[in-house]
Amino acid sequence: MKYKILIFHLIELIASAAIPNTAKKRFPDAIIVGVKKSGTRALLEFLRINPLIKAPGPEVHFFDKNFNKGLEWYREQMPETRIGEVTIEKSPAYFHSKLAPERIKSLNPNTKIIIVVRDPVTRAISDYTQSSSKRKRMGLMPSFETMAVGDCSNWLRANCTTKTRGVNSGWGAIRIGVYHKHMKRWLENFPLTNIHIVDGERLITNPAEEISATEKFLGLTPVAKPEDFGVDPIKKFPCLKSTDGKLHCLGKTKGRHHPEVDPLVLSTLKEFYGPENKKFYQMINQWFDW
Ligand code: A3P
Repeated sequence: MKYKILIFHLIELIASAAIPNTAKKRFPDAIIVGVKKSGTRALLEFLRINPLIKAPGPEVHFFDKNFNKGLEWYREQMPETRIGEVTIEKSPAYFHSKLAPERIKSLNPNTKIIIVVRDPVTRAISDYTQSSSKRKRMGLMPSFETMAVGDCSNWLRANCTTKTRGVNSGWGAIRIGVYHKHMKRWLENFPLTNIHIVDGERLITNPAEEISATEKFLGLTPVAKPEDFGVDPIKKFPCLKSTDGKLHCLGKTKGRHHPEVDPLVLSTLKEFYGPENKKFYQMINQWFDW
């Protein structure tokens, strides 16, 4: 695979020297690798305010699910860009994939990595809400409390009987939120300077600021301004605002109504994540108030 990647780079180099700045499909300069349910779609849609940022519509899932389809398939999924434009893809399952970091590095070690994070307790509830909205139709979903701290043996296959500080830490919705475990793999493959962490809560309360910071990380002059955003009167999440004042909000699968969760379960989860979050903060040298 490494040999193939080298040939690809060589062909790209020769082609770019011979051809003027024509639009063509290129491998991404930056990837939003996660974290699932932290606001990755909002980030990508808001970044599109910048006309130099181009991205494929759907999630590509190359470095986790579609790797066997090969590099040419991957490049085909990208939009056409000219030199000076930035290609981004987002596949939030890369964050917790064991192989994605090293695979991305072998394609291009200079790839810029973007990670949106939010309080892992809120993230877990959001993850649960998404799965239950799919499974409820089949009548197959127990409560969040059962999944997180209760008798999960009927529902979870792996690691269910081993509880960590009272929490079913083997449940995917919980496991993904132990950020430092996944982050370690990214830092083994990319320097921290190539990784940009987006605050998923601030992306909701102050989208212009988070988008500007990301544009700068991408080497672009920020164009996002507070006037580019409005607030969805029903869901209360930010939406893009066009010049005529019309709001363009994310679809109905974003900003779902979350179930009320037993406060005792919430505090058990908060205690569980406390020390894990601290390890993450130290790793990225950035602090959050979760
Ligand atoms: P919920 O639908 O559970 O509230 P992702 O895009 O990574 O799947 O993240 C989805 C989450 O992004 C949503 O979860 C919501 O909380 C959050 N979010 C952040 N900004 C948003 C926005 N502008 N519109 C809708 N949801 C947004």
